[in-house]
Amino acid sequence: MEKHIFAKFRFWFVVSSAFLLWYLLLCFYNSEFKATKRPITLLDNNFANSEDTQEPNFVIFPANSDKLINQTLLPEETGDNKNVSETRAQKRENPRNILHKEDQKISENKDSCSGRYVYIHDLPTKFNDDLLKNCRSLSDWTDMCESTSNSGFGPPLSNTEKVYSNKGWYATNQFSLEVVFHNRMKKYDCLTNDSSSASAVFVPYYAGLDVARYLWGHNTSMRDSDSIELVKCLREKPEWKKMFGRDHFLVAGRITWDFRRLSDEEFEWGNKLMLLPESKNMTMLTIESSPWHNNDFAIPYPTYFHPSGDQEVFEWQDRMRMQKRRFLFSFAGAPRPKIQDSIRNEIIAQCKAASKGKCKLLECNSNSVSNKCQKPDFVMKMFQSSNFCLQPPGDSSTRRSAFDSILAGCIPVFFHPGSAYLQYLWHLPRDFTKYSVFIHAFDVKNGTVSIEKTLLGIPRQKVAAMREEVIRLIPKVIYASSKLETLDDAFDITIKEVLEKVSKIRKETEEGKDSSFDYPEERSWYHNFFGTVGEHDWDPYFGRM
Ligand SMILES: *[C@@H]1O[C@H](CO)[C@@H](O)[C@H](O)[C@H]1NC(C)=O
Ligand SMILES: *[C@@H]1O[C@H](CO)[C@@H](O)[C@H](O)[C@H]1NC(C)=O
Ligand SMILES: *[C@@H]1O[C@H](CO)[C@@H](O)[C@H](O)[C@H]1NC(C)=O
Ligand SMILES: *[C@@H]1O[C@H](CO)[C@@H](O)[C@H](O)[C@H]1NC(C)=O
Ligand SMILES: *[C@@H]1O[C@H](CO)[C@@H](O)[C@H](O)[C@H]1NC(C)=O
Ligand SMILES: *[C@@H]1O[C@H](CO)[C@@H](O)[C@H](O)[C@H]1NC(C)=O
Repeated sequence: MEKHIFAKFRFWFVVSSAFLLWYLLLCFYNSEFKATKRPITLLDNNFANSEDTQEPNFVIFPANSDKLINQTLLPEETGDNKNVSETRAQKRENPRNILHKEDQKISENKDSCSGRYVYIHDLPTKFNDDLLKNCRSLSDWTDMCESTSNSGFGPPLSNTEKVYSNKGWYATNQFSLEVVFHNRMKKYDCLTNDSSSASAVFVPYYAGLDVARYLWGHNTSMRDSDSIELVKCLREKPEWKKMFGRDHFLVAGRITWDFRRLSDEEFEWGNKLMLLPESKNMTMLTIESSPWHNNDFAIPYPTYFHPSGDQEVFEWQDRMRMQKRRFLFSFAGAPRPKIQDSIRNEIIAQCKAASKGKCKLLECNSNSVSNKCQKPDFVMKMFQSSNFCLQPPGDSSTRRSAFDSILAGCIPVFFHPGSAYLQYLWHLPRDFTKYSVFIHAFDVKNGTVSIEKTLLGIPRQKVAAMREEVIRLIPKVIYASSKLETLDDAFDITIKEVLEKVSKIRKETEEGKDSSFDYPEERSWYHNFFGTVGEHDWDPYFGRM
């Protein structure tokens, strides 16, 4: 008996020492990381505990959470989330101070805006402010006056259901990016009024708001007229001559197909903004880019969250880590009976046929007044309660919902490489297996894959790691209301990349080169993602009609 107790004691002694040693090692690494410039270290994030769900089938803890340490050493202690987040907040304090000091040092030595100056083009107000003034005429069925209010964030969301955190949540319209972006641009720290010293020129044209007025029931000349007038106006300005517009960029807050009319036939969709010769020289940022063209580039759709400080983001991330996730997967959307290749029916059928309680469906019937999909509360609540969120193509290959799902810490499941991987190259990791699941649309269409089985087959550790990666992506896919202290948001990342792109073009021009001719434009999607030209099993997704 005594021997047994002794053996047991020895066993626990060894276990405890091992953990102590390991913990010290972690602390050591942590202080190492603090010395680096990155504000949030890998390790800090791994410390986050993930109390995601109490469902017997889906209890997931990252291997090295604080909580696990406490649980292993003191099995009777229940988790104390407040203490966990406090410790984490403290851990973040130091790197920020270090960063701040380094920044100061740099600014003492040289102009911290050097190479980052942006000039906002002075356009006639008909291209931006007048559209907002006449917001009643922007849409026949959406209240665009409401949607464009609050710098494009829309009206604040009431938090009666406690779905959101206390600050920074708005009923943001998916097509309001150009207003959001312009307002953030006005607060950019390196603006200049001297266009000759600018590294890039921002064109504050609300291309999407403009075209949306005429997409339904107007002739092509109405749809094109402002775009054509805009480029004429740009071409005549002295700023154009400098690089023939190749240092100009604009944000078009609708999908690329609204600006790439296939022909001048009246029945064809959209205007031809992106086809104009001037547009081919500019960088057109949009929420969904064309895989076959290289003058547009996709940046995230706006979500509902527009925080004003780092702390608001950290708190939201922590909350998403601890969220109970009752459902294995969920889907919010409507079928697309008119689109032959659509897999929406199959997705909905698989969700309905899943084992009890595994899949949550929010069916969106656009005819119904009480369409729950239009209500952020329902959608965000469901995503926060799910481990995986299905993101099949809708009318086009991308969905705003993918970003809502990331915001809710729900691992997105994509069925088409053009839904995210080939789109948001600046904002999402190239290695998409780290934060998402890919299931071939063709396999869903011909019924050879079970979504439930595929998702159940992913080891728990892997699911936890993916979710942590998704949660770390949150700051990168949101548009903050102003510059955050240490975090780069979707706006910051975009500006950095645009400046880099323009600087590359400038360098090439000086050397008399143009690398955009290195590959056929048709293969842009391939070249942008892989950096080369070649063949891939994604090719069937990009056959031209
Ligand atoms: C939280 O941590 C503090 C020390 O940091 C401790 O005094 C307090 O008892 C802890 N709270 C709980 C609920 O354990
Ligand atoms: C772990 O437990 C210790 C002792 O109860 C406590 O001081 C510490 O705050 C806990 N850490 C976390 C992350 O809960
Ligand atoms: C540019 O000029 C406008 C109007 O003269 C002024 O309000 C603004 O502060 C100036 N901006 C910068 C960055 O100098
Ligand atoms: C297009 O529509 C506008 C307004 O309805 C009209 O004034 C114009 O003549 C039309 N243009 C053509 C080419 O049909
Ligand atoms: C576009 O840029 C090229 C140089 O790269 C220039 O030759 C061409 O004229 C420009 N197009 C327009 C419409 O300015
Ligand atoms: C289903 O589609 C996949 C991908 O195109 C294909 O490899 C497979 O053979 C198809 N299976 C059936 C039963 O049609």
